[in-house]
Amino acid sequence: MPDLVKKLALTAYGRFRALRGEPVRFRGAFASYDEALAKIRPGRLAGYDHDSVAPVSLEFMQERAPWDYPVLYWLQRLAPGIRCLVDAGGHVGVKYRAFAPYLDLDRLQWVVYDLPALVRAGRAQLRPQDRTLSFVDRLEDAPPADLLLASGLLPYLREPFEELVGRLRAKPRHVLLNKVVTRDGPTVVTLENFGVAEVPYQMRNVREVPAALEALGYEIVDEWTIDNLAHRIQTHPELGRCTYRGYAARLKS
Ligand SMILES: C[S@@+](CC[C@H](N)C(=O)[O-])C[C@H]1O[C@@H](n2cnc3c(N)ncnc32)[C@H](O)[C@@H]1O
Repeated sequence: MPDLVKKLALTAYGRFRALRGEPVRFRGAFASYDEALAKIRPGRLAGYDHDSVAPVSLEFMQERAPWDYPVLYWLQRLAPGIRCLVDAGGHVGVKYRAFAPYLDLDRLQWVVYDLPALVRAGRAQLRPQDRTLSFVDRLEDAPPADLLLASGLLPYLREPFEELVGRLRAKPRHVLLNKVVTRDGPTVVTLENFGVAEVPYQMRNVREVPAALEALGYEIVDEWTIDNLAHRIQTHPELGRCTYRGYAARLKS
């Protein structure tokens, strides 16, 4: 099928699904986070920062998925030189628990930075064996860290990544990013359906995060894609599939 006809057919199909109000996972395509936020359906909570959103996908995130292994590889490799790690968007400590069998966590201070509702839930769920896990809901309160981990944060992060790093007390020597959702065209913000809530979800232009790392003084030492997470926005399939990416970066000396 010629490209234009295919695009028109996909557009018509997507809008038909939108008009029917089908309960899809991704709905709408907006130019900015705030525009998406303004389109959240009445009766739904807006965004992640609610007590009733904390349990959504909790078990799933607490498992080790195939796409966590590049992060685990880099954590194991860097661990001998790391004493403190900030896990931005670390939820209730899901990756601390998922990675526990493979890392010597007793010699690593693992500080989760997340939104207040998630930090409340994380503190309430602390177990005796989570000896080196702690939580902050202000990045400024995190101790100076050797490594910044942001796994699955970038789709949901409202502020520019440079600003997030700028709020740390010092630039960490290492940055590990995973599940950065990208596309070849301009950044698009859609709404992810969490059942109780709708959450703005960013598919960033593919150059955005590498450019931010470069501007912050980092060099990318490794990158990967996660092909089995690729998806379309169901109401806007003509925008194409996004690509999930990960990056390991080191502060240039
Ligand atoms: C999909 S979860 C990622 C959980 C886990 N890191 C993982 O890889 O599975 C996204 C997390 O980002 C958090 N988040 C969203 N916006 C944030 C912000 N501005 N600051 C800190 N955390 C944020 C959410 O609360 C949520 O815990």
